[in-house]
Amino acid sequence: MTAAPGAEAGARTQLAPLRRYWHPVADSAAVGSEPVGVTLLEEDLVLFRSQGRVHVDAYRAEDRYGLVWVALEDPVADIAPFPEYTDGSYRTYISVRSSWNASAGRFTENGLDVTHFAWVHPGTLGDRDDAECPAIDIDVTSYGFEYAYSRESLESPFATGGRTIHSRTMHHIPFTRHRVLTSDAGHSVQFVTASPTRARQCRIWMIESRDHHLADPIEPYIDFSRQLLEQDRQIVESQRPEMLPINLTEELHLRGPDQVALTYRRLLADAGVADV
Ligand SMILES: [Fe+2]
Repeated sequence: MTAAPGAEAGARTQLAPLRRYWHPVADSAAVGSEPVGVTLLEEDLVLFRSQGRVHVDAYRAEDRYGLVWVALEDPVADIAPFPEYTDGSYRTYISVRSSWNASAGRFTENGLDVTHFAWVHPGTLGDRDDAECPAIDIDVTSYGFEYAYSRESLESPFATGGRTIHSRTMHHIPFTRHRVLTSDAGHSVQFVTASPTRARQCRIWMIESRDHHLADPIEPYIDFSRQLLEQDRQIVESQRPEMLPINLTEELHLRGPDQVALTYRRLLADAGVADV
């Protein structure tokens, strides 16, 4: 279905504050000298590469972490750091790239929700018989916020079952998180970023790094991440309202674990971002 021109213009206006941030738009490897069309914030763009550098007519473009990033106006923040990407002691690969029928805000907030593991990912990230939420420390930072907690690990590619796993997330406003899981196995890093292609659609990438099990084939790790994200997709694509409400009175909130989501929405509001 194609939106009426008026509706599209309305969506662009609503998304306008996001033009001041870098967003990923494509895999770097997919962009050569031939033009490649992409969509960002309801705007159609053409990417191409010349003399090794990626370009978008009239806009800033950068290659970083195997992705092409674009900012439609002077960016107010840098592309999120991902130090493990260039650290030779880590093995790094893109594990998931997909398009979702959900807003980038809805996708992103789901990834910040520590209460959903037991219900959406039973047996892998959570246990329905032990759904109690851990204590969470949240700090607001220059780029967004950071939060951390520890929990008992289930058996997974990230940890041996029954040990302590420590999770630390650096969330960069608006849609990028850098999460470091520390367990008996070592460090497992997830760099997850959502591109707001349209008001109610996004493209997502998950890049993973780890400094353990370096000789393992990567396919089982990739399958694990894809399975989790498909479970999330069932929830996120059916959420209503479709755009994440930034007016905090529109949805009921509890204190405690919802503090992470509340912090996220407050910082989006501070950045002048409307419902995303
Ligand atoms: Fe999830």
